[in-house]
Amino acid sequence: MFLANVLNDSICQPIKEPYERWYAFMEKNVEFWLPDSEWHTKTHCARVLLLSLIIGHQKGLSDEEKNALGMVAVFHDSRRLDDGIDKGHGARAAAYYKDYCRAHDLPFDEQTYYITYYHDQDDSLGLSEIAKSPRLGERGVLLYQIFKDADALDRFRLGPDGLDVKFLRTEEGRQLVEFAKDLLRKSTESKA
Ligand SMILES: [Fe+2]
Ligand SMILES: [Fe+2]
Repeated sequence: MFLANVLNDSICQPIKEPYERWYAFMEKNVEFWLPDSEWHTKTHCARVLLLSLIIGHQKGLSDEEKNALGMVAVFHDSRRLDDGIDKGHGARAAAYYKDYCRAHDLPFDEQTYYITYYHDQDDSLGLSEIAKSPRLGERGVLLYQIFKDADALDRFRLGPDGLDVKFLRTEEGRQLVEFAKDLLRKSTESKA
């Protein structure tokens, strides 16, 4: 299991089970358009999965909300056409998620859909669209911020200056900066 060498850290204990479940789900079911991508690999998604579950747990999310974040993590970069900004890959990944639910008779989660859809857009747009949706509201905004922080915390893979921490949205995210750097180091020693 990828990141097995990290999962026994006390910080990971409470979210070990959903991490393993969503990681296995991604490996088995989610098809990536850019399998040779340098920066947006399944290993990136696995680290984002772990980080979003940790922040989600610290924020006291329900199991259902944590599962919504897990689903976003495993789908969010699956429909990239290139490794640049590639605006629109969020919308494509959200469409893929929706089709996947339909084809596999899986309950469709609107939070998952919207967070995936807007994750590649500026917060101002993502937050206003999510806040507008009557069924998402405040919880949806919180989930979006958690996910964006988890995705951002893996930017150290781009280099030591890959993330400007002042742009993190949550206090929990800010507290995880050193953990995220360490996670990246350990993930190079872990087999997928
Ligand atoms: Fe993305
Ligand atoms: Fe990402």
